[in-house]
Amino acid sequence: MQYSTYIFDSFSVSDTLRFGRAFADALPEQAAVALHGTLGAGKTLLVQGMASELDIDPQIVTSPTFVICNEYIGRKTLIHADVYRLNDSDDFLAIGGDEWFQSHAITLIEWAEKIDDCLPLNLYSVSISQCSESARQIVLKSPCEEVTDAVSSTLKAS
Ligand SMILES: Nc1ncnc2c1ncn2[C@@H]1O[C@H](COP(=O)(O)OP(=O)(O)O)[C@@H](O)[C@H]1O
Ligand SMILES: [Mg+2]
Repeated sequence: MQYSTYIFDSFSVSDTLRFGRAFADALPEQAAVALHGTLGAGKTLLVQGMASELDIDPQIVTSPTFVICNEYIGRKTLIHADVYRLNDSDDFLAIGGDEWFQSHAITLIEWAEKIDDCLPLNLYSVSISQCSESARQIVLKSPCEEVTDAVSSTLKAS
């Protein structure tokens, strides 16, 4: 599959929230997204930005590490999962994780590399790296160019 890439430099919390809003707006209602970044990179913050775009109260968005999966229903449904505590794909299938990808939702997965063989081909990925205390580089890889184009033009306009 051909992926298109968009790189966004975030210099503040509000930049990352803005990226989240643009991304949520651009994504179709059904999508799978691998979310990469070390602890404190801004993954939860980015999902809070996505939530606010979808009329979900961002304050209810918390880390899914201990619960494995949170679901938020808004203009589009968000499933925010963290599979760190699972051993492998067998564990993932045992909890019915593959059904997330069939559901009418944007499924965001942290530690997606643990369940590599269960991931759909048309997978989006967002990788956040920490450049300094307040700067982050956000790399979006998309299986379709429309989404990277839409995110890029929204962020340029705002
Ligand atoms: N540009 C930025 N983008 C995202 N987070 C930032 C930025 N600058 C500082 N931060 C801080 O980094 C932390 C990110 O936390 P969080 O979103 O919980 O990370 P993660 O979920 O990846 O562990 C927050 O305390 C936030 O205030
Ligand atoms: Mg988090």
